[in-house]
Amino acid sequence: MALTSEWNVGSHAAEARQARPFWDRHLPDEVVFRPEEGTVRVSSSETLLTVPLTAWGSAERADAGDTEIPVLTLWVPDVRDAHGEALAAGVRLLSLPLVSSGRFRAVGPYGTTVEFAQMRPETLVSRLFTKTDTITPWAIRAAVTLRLPDLLAKRSLTVAEAAERTGTEPDALHRLLRLLAAHGILAEDAEGRFRGTALSEALREDHASGLVSALDLDSAQARIDQVSREILHSIRTGKPVYERVFGRPLWEDFAAEPRLSQSFQEWMSGKTTLLAPSVLAGYDWSEVRHVMDVGGGLGNLLAALVEGAPHLRGTLLELPETAADAVGELSKSLVADRISVVGGSFFDPLPKDADTVVLYNVLVNWDNAAAIRILRRCAEAVGPDGRVLILEGLPADTVGEDSGRAGGVLDDQRLLARIDLLMLMLFGSKERSLPEYAELAATSGLAITSVSPTSSGVFVVECRAVDSP
Ligand SMILES: C[S@@+](CC[C@H](N)C(=O)[O-])C[C@H]1O[C@@H](n2cnc3c(N)ncnc32)[C@H](O)[C@@H]1O
Repeated sequence: MALTSEWNVGSHAAEARQARPFWDRHLPDEVVFRPEEGTVRVSSSETLLTVPLTAWGSAERADAGDTEIPVLTLWVPDVRDAHGEALAAGVRLLSLPLVSSGRFRAVGPYGTTVEFAQMRPETLVSRLFTKTDTITPWAIRAAVTLRLPDLLAKRSLTVAEAAERTGTEPDALHRLLRLLAAHGILAEDAEGRFRGTALSEALREDHASGLVSALDLDSAQARIDQVSREILHSIRTGKPVYERVFGRPLWEDFAAEPRLSQSFQEWMSGKTTLLAPSVLAGYDWSEVRHVMDVGGGLGNLLAALVEGAPHLRGTLLELPETAADAVGELSKSLVADRISVVGGSFFDPLPKDADTVVLYNVLVNWDNAAAIRILRRCAEAVGPDGRVLILEGLPADTVGEDSGRAGGVLDDQRLLARIDLLMLMLFGSKERSLPEYAELAATSGLAITSVSPTSSGVFVVECRAVDSP
């Protein structure tokens, strides 16, 4: 059986929901017990390990549905802290403290027994080492740029065969393949042949995740990744560093190099396509007639909304080069006749035929002064009876429990914190909290009228014009 991040289901739902932030932080993303193989596979954003069952907790077993699984042992940096946190989060504990022995037990998801144990100092160091490693991320990018996941998807190849097909030096390629195999991204058989795995499937060119367009070293995303080397300058000054690294601000840079702009849009639209159904389901579109997606990329979100709600018409507003690409993309859509595309800037007056504007993943790119200018243009376009929908992730501590956080990929606080720093380095902007959006809205003549969580973790923050006195 698999314990995944979707674990808060079934009879333990209520208990699990309450303690979820605690478990989210402590549980690996996925734990798959394979009693028949005598192994447990553990994966998190940082690791993918296969460990023998015997090394996994004690021999004791806890009953989980119809599957017998062993005690899950989680090594934590500070077992006393974990114990305090578990108590505060209302996690059901199984044994009296025992913290003095460096261990305590709790009832985990699916009723599993989870044992927390004090991490050994050397593990702590190696965990930090994993977090600070920059070789592995670039090695994966190199493999993707060489399209190794596609090459090894359906067959296993020897190093020599793979080197010949990718035009690489065999010994050097072998070293790359070995690193990927150590992370479970490829598998090596007894004869030294390499083949793809479930993980490398997501790194294939035609995979819906669009990850390839983010990891390919010739892509816009690879360029974006390089700003991190100047992070210290951003931290010292609070200023962006994109221009310092590449000589001009990001949107100017992309406008000057269509190849970059196209690869950026491909990456964005892959992600947006995956999230679009949650936006359609997470907000009541019944009273909207005409929606304008401002800074809407290639129009994937707009097409999904118009397709899912047949009464809707749509307008896409994008920079001229991207608008031209979007026309090509949208002409393939079944709802092309209900969508128009306008090339322009959201700092200029916008078309006035929509009653609702969507700003998805846009305000996060701009500092307060620019974000207010964009919001004012949107408010002016929809008029006094219209709405402006800000679609963004929101930091956990700024949204009350009763707003019903729905979880989902964008509700990952580590991801939000990471994007927040990236926004600082790229644009001098940030991930804003709900009160910060309320302030931006107020300065733009708007007020937040509702906040709807969606299953992807994106929130729909609905704003309407404030009645003038
Ligand atoms: C982070 S992307 C988000 C795209 C899209 N909303 C999505 O999430 O898939 C920001 C978008 O803003 C667009 N953009 C940047 N400056 C703009 C401007 N002055 N006017 C209109 N669009 C702009 C970019 O072309 C880009 O597509």
